[in-house]
Amino acid sequence: MNLLKLDKATIKFGGLIAVNEVSFEINKGDLFGLIGPNGAGKTTCFNLITGVYKPTSGQISFDGRDITGTPANKIANLGIARTFQNIRLFKSMSVLENVVTAGYLRHKTSMASAFFYLPSAIKENEQLKEEAMKLLEVVDLAHVADVRSCDLAYGMQRRLEIARAMATQPQLLLLDEPAAGMNPQEKEELNAMVKKIRDHHNMTVLLIEHDMRFVMSLCEKIFVLDHGEEICFGPPEKVRNDPKVIAAYLGEAV
Ligand SMILES: Nc1ncnc2c1ncn2[C@@H]1O[C@H](COP(=O)(O)OP(=O)(O)OP(=O)(O)O)[C@@H](O)[C@H]1O
Ligand SMILES: [Mg+2]
Repeated sequence: MNLLKLDKATIKFGGLIAVNEVSFEINKGDLFGLIGPNGAGKTTCFNLITGVYKPTSGQISFDGRDITGTPANKIANLGIARTFQNIRLFKSMSVLENVVTAGYLRHKTSMASAFFYLPSAIKENEQLKEEAMKLLEVVDLAHVADVRSCDLAYGMQRRLEIARAMATQPQLLLLDEPAAGMNPQEKEELNAMVKKIRDHHNMTVLLIEHDMRFVMSLCEKIFVLDHGEEICFGPPEKVRNDPKVIAAYLGEAV
């Protein structure tokens, strides 16, 4: 059974149809790429899936349940987590604290009881710290756990965003341009990291990426959007040679 299904998902902003009748299915364990030129509607798809926007028409289901119009916090609790194209970290917090804070979402103890140092909260905080350290190892940031996140290099901040998203233990992880601003070596490491996350952490991954080499070598299925509409879907070999895809990217650095 599919984990995520978009069925003719559409959203209009005034006169602009940002996403137009987009349908695709993602199965458990997929490494699924969403690509397309600037302004194609990729991030808007993430915003529809995560409940930031409600579709104008069409349906979205997750794990067999209709989530069309479900508020963002509920969707997060159902098991979808994301990173943002423009990095959103707690800048003055340490790397470790950033991940621990994200982990609270999943736990019973509220931030308030943690604030008042109730014994249950102290125990839970220790547990969250341990889990967070493990995630920092996955994204190769354990050695900078105590550094303020704003002092990290850009590529490291992107990896920290991934650890934060993973801290909620989602079934589906959405990554919005995770390789943006990374150098070739960082991209290669990220590529292996995302594969590892899928293989060893039981997560399905949907990622948006502009770097064609990155996305072609990582994703098994690729969905191509242009002007809010599907222009191609299939494995990398098909997408790479599709005349519509080539035409859409003319003028962009592929
Ligand atoms: N809240 C909004 N209000 C009005 N227009 C919007 C809104 N969000 C997105 N859009 C428009 O929808 C279109 C798709 O935007 P989106 O951010 O999804 O593109 P994208 O494919 O992620 O592009 P990029 O590769 O540049 O990140 C754009 O024309 C954008 O200006
Ligand atoms: Mg975008």
